Amino acid sequence: MSRRTPNANALFSEQWLTLREPADHLARDAQLTHAADSWLTRHADPSRPLEARRTIVDLGCGSGSNLRYLAPRLHGAQHWRLVDHDEELLASARLRCQYLVSADAQPIHLESVNLSLADTLEETLQGAYLVTASALFDLLTADDIGALADACQRSGCAVLFALSIDGLIRFHDASGSALYGDDDRFMLAALQAHQHRDKGDGPAMGSEAPRRLRESFRHRGYHIREAASPWQLGPESLPLAEALMAGWREALHQQLPQQRDRVDQWHARRLDDLLRERVTLTVGHRDLLATPSDRTRSGARA
Ligand SMILES: C[S@@+](CC[C@H](N)C(=O)[O-])C[C@H]1O[C@@H](n2cnc3c(N)ncnc32)[C@H](O)[C@@H]1O
Repeated sequence: MSRRTPNANALFSEQWLTLREPADHLARDAQLTHAADSWLTRHADPSRPLEARRTIVDLGCGSGSNLRYLAPRLHGAQHWRLVDHDEELLASARLRCQYLVSADAQPIHLESVNLSLADTLEETLQGAYLVTASALFDLLTADDIGALADACQRSGCAVLFALSIDGLIRFHDASGSALYGDDDRFMLAALQAHQHRDKGDGPAMGSEAPRRLRESFRHRGYHIREAASPWQLGPESLPLAEALMAGWREALHQQLPQQRDRVDQWHARRLDDLLRERVTLTVGHRDLLATPSDRTRSGARA
């Protein structure tokens, strides 16, 4: 188990995670959750003890948003293993999720593991039927994703990965037309480049993550289902949009240190458009459900 200090660029405040949670839950694809529930019901072995029957591993769990979304939508008693490199967020997740129950009022058991996902995952995935994560993969490297897909294949589990950013960022005016001028183009390209910055173990996947996940699991014999899960931020989401744009401004200052004035002018203009309700903001994400073929599963459980 790793105790190394997490990179500051891969740490998140609980305040930010709480602010984004309603938009995340609204954006997620309900059908993929339903399909994951059906898969678990078909494959969980009722003769095994709970921990070996319905273990669900939540990678990069933060303060538990993914668990709060999924657990009440899945049937049957569940054993959740929460994984994060931030001990404070893990403690908050344990506290905030202790009274959850399943869709059919069965108990939810919690276990937490403080480690880096760059470390070996074999032990972490032990006994897992479903591995899940939300808003995580842009932070990881291609090697992390490859190692995760290998470990999932070996354990024969299904995976449900929600809210991986796909690079789409658009402001729309009241008629629904996309506003995509030279400054928008320039800033959004710089933001994408910033998302690829090293978070401690090499270049991060940024908006390439959905494609990499899809290819990695398909290549290992998984059946793939995907859906778009964009944030649509309008007047009811102004605090989130404002916080998001403040983060973008900071990232753009780092990425374009010679162009602070241009960054600030673009930021001020688009923020003003949002606050005056002249535009809405779309931020693209993808959800992915990958289920192992029967052959993969029988190989894994043999
Ligand atoms: C954007 S937050 C998402 C948290 C949560 N899944 C949610 O949807 O609110 C990413 C989470 O991944 C964790 N994280 C990032 N990189 C990690 C790594 N290499 N190992 C373990 N945890 C990591 C962070 O501490 C953070 O809790």
